[in-house]
Amino acid sequence: MKMTLAAARQAAAEGIVMLENKNNALPLKRGEKIALLGRCQIDYNAGGTGSGGSVNTEYKTDILSSLKRNGVETDEKLEKFYTRWTRRHPIETGGGMWASRPLFQREPEILKLPLRRAAKNADTAVVVIGRSSGEEQDSYFGPGGWLLTEAERATLKAARKYFKKVIAILNVPGVIDMGWVGEFDIDAVLYIWQGGQEGGEAVADVLTGISPCGRLTDTIAVRYADYPSSADFGGDDRNFYREDIFVGYRYFETFCPEKVMYPFGFGLSYTEFEISCNSVSMSGGSVSLRVNVKNIGGTSGKEVVQVYAVPPKSRLPRPEIALVEFAKTETLGPGGSEELVIKFPLSRLSYYDDKNFCLRVDKGLYKFVIGKNVRDRSCAISLELYKDEVIRKCKSFGAPTEPFERLRGFKNGEPVYEPVPVRASEPAERRKPAPEIEFTGDRGIKLNDVKLGKAALDDFLAQLASEDLACLCRGEGMGSSRVRPGTGTAFGGVSDRLLDFGVPAVAGTDGPSGLRFDNGDKAALVPIGTMLACTWNKRLVQEIYSRIGGEMLENHVELLLGPGVNIHRNPLCGRNFEYFSEDPYMSGAMAAAAMSGLNSKGVRGVLKHIAANNREHNRKRLNSVVSERALREIYLKPIEYALELSEVKALMTAYNPVNGVQSGSNYDIITGIIRDELGFDGMVMTDWWAYLGKCGGASTKNTAAMLRAGGDIYMVHSSAANNSGGDNTLVSLKDGSLSLGELQRAAKNILKLIIDLKY
Ligand code: BGC
Repeated sequence: MKMTLAAARQAAAEGIVMLENKNNALPLKRGEKIALLGRCQIDYNAGGTGSGGSVNTEYKTDILSSLKRNGVETDEKLEKFYTRWTRRHPIETGGGMWASRPLFQREPEILKLPLRRAAKNADTAVVVIGRSSGEEQDSYFGPGGWLLTEAERATLKAARKYFKKVIAILNVPGVIDMGWVGEFDIDAVLYIWQGGQEGGEAVADVLTGISPCGRLTDTIAVRYADYPSSADFGGDDRNFYREDIFVGYRYFETFCPEKVMYPFGFGLSYTEFEISCNSVSMSGGSVSLRVNVKNIGGTSGKEVVQVYAVPPKSRLPRPEIALVEFAKTETLGPGGSEELVIKFPLSRLSYYDDKNFCLRVDKGLYKFVIGKNVRDRSCAISLELYKDEVIRKCKSFGAPTEPFERLRGFKNGEPVYEPVPVRASEPAERRKPAPEIEFTGDRGIKLNDVKLGKAALDDFLAQLASEDLACLCRGEGMGSSRVRPGTGTAFGGVSDRLLDFGVPAVAGTDGPSGLRFDNGDKAALVPIGTMLACTWNKRLVQEIYSRIGGEMLENHVELLLGPGVNIHRNPLCGRNFEYFSEDPYMSGAMAAAAMSGLNSKGVRGVLKHIAANNREHNRKRLNSVVSERALREIYLKPIEYALELSEVKALMTAYNPVNGVQSGSNYDIITGIIRDELGFDGMVMTDWWAYLGKCGGASTKNTAAMLRAGGDIYMVHSSAANNSGGDNTLVSLKDGSLSLGELQRAAKNILKLIIDLKY
């Protein structure tokens, strides 16, 4: 745990994004006394709530004590006031119930604060603004959600009135409105996110001198209404993804850069860097850049080099610019420099052509802009491609069945929409032939014989009766006694018969911010996914997850239910904090880093939640209506990148339906795209108690629909052996609506994963 926490502290410092720093307001000067305002200085939000954050920790740092521990002098009267006040007004937890903790907490009345006195002792006010976030609870457009509360505004206003320097630090799960920065003329602004249990220390590190080196992985727009999805986010039963591929900066940079307050990739530092490009070359389908970074300021720091591609005009509308690769330097002292070699495959320039059903790269002149954020053009290099290339031929999968229009561009300042290609008619349910393995009965082959290479997996499978196979396709939980206490699931040896065949019961638990044990067992809480991504440091993220992998081994957990790779389609999604970014490459690269970290310890992770799971409201039934192109280019793209950059053995489908079919039983997504097109051959599990089937007729019992679609395991039953969830696997086998081959195919995927695990 200690090792995880050391890396987590580094990430909590490296993920801090500084957006303003007028007149070098930061770092705090030696001996500079501060007035610390806002209850979250004590009630620090270390992580999200719900499955993705509720890690039991041995301790949690907070901002006030960490600053003091690191030698910062805070105004004593204010400190006493907040200590007493927070004790008397404890955090409202919503009764500890799932999804009921308010997103913001009450702040003291401003008139009661001893501000005038504090201002006599200190020139600098540091105001902490906090939000929590969690599963099954979206944020909202209003005070306490996207906007500041009246009390938070009053605190900033008073800070401005009484103090020479005002620093705002945002202890939040995701981006919020920033209009107040200008209104109150704030000197320095830092997103400190939710930094895990060591987060307070990291804040102290940065305020006292470690140069911030985090960069935004989302665009901060001037107004919420400027986000392209804002008009199509609030449906009760469905949301049309009308912005299509124009998510985040892909929209803003292409159509309306003036609506951006802080661009994607942006973040300030205490020092200055100069980026220059030395060369570009192409060989074997890869582009290679040599980039030099020099620290030309007076302090040590790290810089992030971001490479974006500007494609030539193409046959379909395309975003003006897209991130293709990035790299971070080591710490460079004043005058220090580093050459980074940045390499990426040509396929990263591709787009999905939904007229000819292929992933393609067009010929023409590509410009690579290299800089500190999506707007910075420190240098540019061009590369001419002389012929069109089809990277992958695809089949049409995942198209919506109901007509709607999508954005294709702007004309005279007005958006222009076009009809989304839809399926002509609802096809008969798609299925893929699954060869049947003939039942042999028990021939004495144990699973370990397969693991040791002494027997073939098919021969092992042939011994299992339908009842055993159906049982194997059920996860047990939560807190199954077949594995260590407090986990999300046990799977594999979930019946005595399966155990007799030597199938072990293995454990999976949440994820992604650390190990969540429901029985109170402790683990390390690391920064939220968004913050990890804001480090732009793949190596560090890999290290954190390899440490988490170490904790898994110590705790007898084989599978981490994370990381989350959903795209930040809209800033109000309640689980954005678990996810990395609005950008598919950033999300995929971070997911790959996390996977590689876990893999290095012989344990595995699960990428979740597939697909287009972008809102928590009515999450089990809210239909995401999205084009085939946006699915490939945006929402499933992180999986494609993770598969390209690491080894991925397990995926979790989402709660929501996509284009009318629940994710866990969505053939087009699971088999059509992920398995057949992207080549994924691992295990696909459902989310916990998810509905299966088509919208309108979906149920938790329809496991036959999951199995026909290419899914493998249903999560979760309280007793797998007794089919406590009442699934229809065996009934469907009997009536012929499910084939034995389909059931065996799923069982095989589950066993392949188990064989591969260290148990
Ligand atoms: C969440 C998953 C999580 C699972 C197990 C579900 O509610 O959506 O992300 O892994 O619970 O805790």
